[in-house]
Formats: sequence, C-alpha cells, structure tokens
Amino acid sequence: MRRGSILQLAAIAALAALIATLVAIFVPWLPTPASDEAKRIHFVYWFTTIICIGVFSVVASVLTYSVIHFRAGPDDDSDGPPIHGHTKLEIVWTAIPAVLVTAISIVSAIVLAQNSKAGSDPLVVKVLGVQFTWKFTYPNGKSYGFLTLPKGRHVKLDITSNDVIHSFWSPELSQKQDAVPGQQNTIVVTPTRTGTFPVICTELCGLGHALMRSHVTILTAKAFDTWLKGGGQSNGPPGLAVFQQFGCGGCHTFQPAGATGTVGPNLDNLKAEAAKANRGPLEKFIRESIVTPGAYLEPNYPDAMPHTFGSQIPPDKLTQLVQYLSGNAK
Ligand code: CUA
Repeated sequence: MRRGSILQLAAIAALAALIATLVAIFVPWLPTPASDEAKRIHFVYWFTTIICIGVFSVVASVLTYSVIHFRAGPDDDSDGPPIHGHTKLEIVWTAIPAVLVTAISIVSAIVLAQNSKAGSDPLVVKVLGVQFTWKFTYPNGKSYGFLTLPKGRHVKLDITSNDVIHSFWSPELSQKQDAVPGQQNTIVVTPTRTGTFPVICTELCGLGHALMRSHVTILTAKAFDTWLKGGGQSNGPPGLAVFQQFGCGGCHTFQPAGATGTVGPNLDNLKAEAAKANRGPLEKFIRESIVTPGAYLEPNYPDAMPHTFGSQIPPDKLTQLVQYLSGNAK
C-alpha cells in the first residue's frame, strides 16, 4: 500500500472521528445523573460510544476512500476482478468486534452487579403502579403519590403493580424497572444530588399511560428525616392529600389541586355535571362516581376509570376526598 493512501485513509478517519465526537459531546443525549447507579450506567454509555466512534471512523474512511478511488468510469461495463475472500482480513474483522463486544458485556455485567448492591441497611420504599398513577409506601406505612428520597443513602424500591404492567422510570436515575402484577421487582437508588425529577411510566398501560407521571424529590438526609417525621405532610386540606395520593390528577383537571389531566371529565365543572346527571345531591354524586364509576358516564367519556377506588381508598379518606371536591367545585 502506498504511503499516500495510508495518509488519506488516516485523514478521513480522523475527520469522521472528530464529527462523531462533536455530535456525541455537544448534543445533550443524557440528563445529568442524580444517583451513583445512574453515573455507572452513563459510564457504560460512554464506554460503548467511544468504541462506536472508533469503528465508525474506520468504516467511514475505508468506504469514502473506496468510493473516491475505485469508482467505475461511466462507460465501464466490465466485471470486477474475480476475488475469492481474504482469510487474514476476515479473521481480523471478526476478532476485533468479538473482543469489543466482550469488553462491553464485561463492563455491563460489573455495573449491573454493583448497581444491585443495596448495602446492609437500605431504606425500602414500596412502589405500586396503578392505572394511572404511582403510589409510594414508606416503612412507617405512609403512602404518597410522589417519591421523596434522602441523598447519600441506599434506597431499595420494591416495585409491583395492581392491575396491568407498568414500568418505573426516572431519567435522572437512569434505571427502568417493570411493575408486574403478582411480582416484586427491585432497583437500588443511591441519590447523589438534591432536586426534583420526573417519574414516568414507560409501558403502554391504557388510556391514561401518557399522563401516568409523578416526581421524585431528593432531599438532604436531614431534610428527609424532618419530612418523614412530620408525616410527609403537604400543606393543604386533607382531601388534597388524598387527591394526590390516589393520583386523581393523572386523569382529571381540577384547578384547586393544580391538576390538568384530560383523560376523564374536568372536575372543575362538577356542579354543572351533577345537575345534568340528576343523580341526587352533589356529594352523593361525587361519591358514587368514585366508588361505582360506571353507574353514570359523562357523555363522550368511556367507562375507563378503574372500579377499584371504592376498596382502595379507606372510608375516612374517601369522605375527605368527597368533601374536598364538592367544597372546591365551581
Ligand atoms: Cu402505566 Cu403506562
């Protein structure tokens, strides 16, 4: 091979590597990680990306060089030379990818093993997926519709579902785990920075799938203790806490709660709807609509609301919720 050819190949490879590197670095592909586990997962991403850039630059340079130098002339109808394989070349281009893929799998296996280590005293939070909301239960028995975690402590999330398959995902934590009925799946999270990040369902689970969103708030260890000891109470009427805990806002709009769901009827119009439905006083109508949602359906809305809230929501909380909705309805 001539020296000029090698220089050309090297120049094209360097250019391809430079372009690919710029695309990798300057496009914000990944969110800033918020846990040790996410950092390790990002390490695997970058490890794999560097290998990919190397392979890409070699392939791009050989391809570009060949297109330029071995192009057939416009009147060239002759066959190419009868070449029958090249054993050395084939061994090389099989062995190198095999080594690279093995390296990726070893790094991935190490990260997976490290990411499943919860230590001897993790905080265990039960995560329940319900159409179309998340419920997070702490060791003290309290449940919330959003997740709150302490920075710097191992947290074990025990994930399951009440109805269909959901999937827990928070981009900043980088981990995804299916929520499967009758099965406990776990992930370990060790938060590294405070902040509030989205929690998203990433398994198509029905009409409200796109709205099955919550959030995770990471507090300092001290602030978390205060939050937990204070009963994790959000300020506001008790009915609002029930509204949030059972994820009503995932499907319904209700201005006093800042809820903007559009899967189910708009609860800001409850008074007018109750009058139209003509099924007794407002509170009775609201209670019936929660406990037996199929009894009366808003025009143009399918029977999509789960029929399980009557048994899920404890009676005293149900009363708080009904009072909250009727008292704040316009
Ligand atoms: Cu739950 Cu999608």
